[in-house]
Amino acid sequence: MNKLIVSLLLTVGISGFAHAAGDAAAGQAKAAVCGACHGPDGNSMAPNFPKLAGQGERYLTKQLHDIKSGKRTVLEMTGLLTNLSDQDLADIAAYFASQKGSVGAADPKIVARGEALFRGGNLEKGLPACTGCHSPNGAGNAAAGFPHLGGQHAQYIAKQLTDFRKEEAGRNNDGDAMTMRTIARKLSDEDIAAVSSYIQGLH
Ligand code: HEC
Ligand code: HEC
Repeated sequence: MNKLIVSLLLTVGISGFAHAAGDAAAGQAKAAVCGACHGPDGNSMAPNFPKLAGQGERYLTKQLHDIKSGKRTVLEMTGLLTNLSDQDLADIAAYFASQKGSVGAADPKIVARGEALFRGGNLEKGLPACTGCHSPNGAGNAAAGFPHLGGQHAQYIAKQLTDFRKEEAGRNNDGDAMTMRTIARKLSDEDIAAVSSYIQGLH
C-alpha cells in the first residue's frame, strides 16, 4: 500500500461515530416508504436512485444522519427522515445492509479504462487505486465505513464523483481528510464515465 492510502486510511478510520446497533427486522417496516424509489429490498430500478441493498451499515447510517441534518442535500428525500429517531435510522440501515445487492453491466467500450483506474489509480496524478478502500470486488469495507460500490448504477456513481469534485449537494461530507474530494478532483469527465461504468458491472 502506498503512503497516501495509509495516511488516508488512518484519518478516515478514526473519525468514526458512535451509533446504536440496528435491528434489521424492525427496519424492514420502517423502510416501507423508501421502497418507492430505492426498491423494496434496496435494489432500485432507476439509475439516479442509488441501490442500498448490501451497502455497509455504518456507511448507510452516516449518510442518513448527513441527509437528515441537511449536510448532504437530497431534495427527493425532503422531510422523509425528520420524524425518524437515531434508532429508526440504525434499524433501516441494518435492514438494507442485510439485503443482497444486484449487479448491472459495464459498457464494453470504456470498461478497460475504468478497470485500469479502479485497480491501478494513476501514478502520475497521485491518484490511489480505488481497490485500496473499496476492495478489489467493490465490496468496500463495512467496518471502516468505506461504501460498497460494486453493481451500483453508473449514473448515480458518476453524479457522486462529480459532486465530490465540485463540492455540490453536500458531498463535502467525506470528513476532514477530504478523501473523496481529493480523489475526485484528479478525475476527468472521461475518467468518471469509465470508472462508473466499470463499477456498475463489478461484483
Ligand atoms: C422520492 C425518491 C426517494 C425516496 C422516497 C427515498 N429516497 Fe433515498 N435517495 C433518493 C435519491 C435521488 C438519492 C441520491 C441523491 C444523490 O444523487 O446524491 C438518495 C440517496 C439515499 C442514500 C444515500 C446512498 C448512498 O449510497 O450514499 C440513502 C442512505 C438513502 N437515500 C436512504 C433512504 C431511506 C432510508 C429512505 C426512506 C426513509 C429513502 N432514502 C427514501 C431518493 C429517494
Ligand atoms: C482512502 C480510501 C478511499 C479511496 C482510495 C477511494 N475511496 Fe471512495 N470513498 C471513501 C470513503 C471513506 C467514502 C465515504 C465518504 C462519506 O462518508 O460520505 C467514499 C465514497 C465513495 C463514493 C460514494 C458512494 C455512494 O454510495 O455515494 C464513490 C462513488 C467513491 N467513493 C468512488 C471511488 C473511486 C472511483 C475511487 C478510485 C478512483 C475511490 N472511491 C477511492 C474512501 C476511499
